[in-house]
Amino acid sequence: MIREVLPEILDELDPSDPRAVRSRRDLRLANKFMQGESWILRQVGELVAKNPAINRVIELGAGEGFLTQLIKTEYPHLDVVAVDLVAAPEGFDPQVRWDEADVLAYDGYEEGSIVVANLFIHHLQDEQIRELAEKMQDVAAILFAEPYRKPLSLMMGRCIFPLVNDVTRHDMMVSVRAGFIRGDLPALLGEGFHWQESLGLIGGIRLRGERCESHSVEGESVS
Ligand SMILES: C[S@@+](CC[C@H](N)C(=O)[O-])C[C@H]1O[C@@H](n2cnc3c(N)ncnc32)[C@H](O)[C@@H]1O
Repeated sequence: MIREVLPEILDELDPSDPRAVRSRRDLRLANKFMQGESWILRQVGELVAKNPAINRVIELGAGEGFLTQLIKTEYPHLDVVAVDLVAAPEGFDPQVRWDEADVLAYDGYEEGSIVVANLFIHHLQDEQIRELAEKMQDVAAILFAEPYRKPLSLMMGRCIFPLVNDVTRHDMMVSVRAGFIRGDLPALLGEGFHWQESLGLIGGIRLRGERCESHSVEGESVS
């Protein structure tokens, strides 16, 4: 399958539209199946234990900010930042900083930061991912959990069609086609990090990058 980034309906609906509200709820369900958030949470713990210079986590395309809240609860000493085009949800945890910004315009990619993204990077065209990589050159680590671009992921997505609305059905299929296979992200993000890729059990691919002097890609089996 060739990578193809097409518009997702949820990005075009008003956030208060009932179809958008329902689709965001469906996304919570998809997240439970795919377990990318819990994988990111575990990796943050490992990285922080290994590198005491890490003091900050930045989530790109944070959506409703669930992951940033989990990270702040688990690691209260870290400065946690959510970046998204949309404003923070009402009543959002004031201990997590919310930056309403385009990730390509955001300028807080500093040393000592871990940049994380769950089901977001596939929204970007290849050229935008390269641009993002240039901005992230100084960060300590990168953790991305994204759709795995394979026909099997499309089939798995169809299995939950009866549980989700029309917006989610459309966006799930578009997301898989815009997703990644092994080697895509390291090639787009370039050198300067030690990359490890792994597969989730249900339609997900995960990338962990730690800053280093020499570039390498390591494959892993299902985690
Ligand atoms: C599929 S949602 C994922 C939300 C969240 N990460 C989750 O797993 O529930 C993608 C999010 O990316 C945001 N987004 C899309 N393009 C963006 C950009 N260029 N900069 C910042 N946020 C963006 C959207 O507003 C949306 O909240």
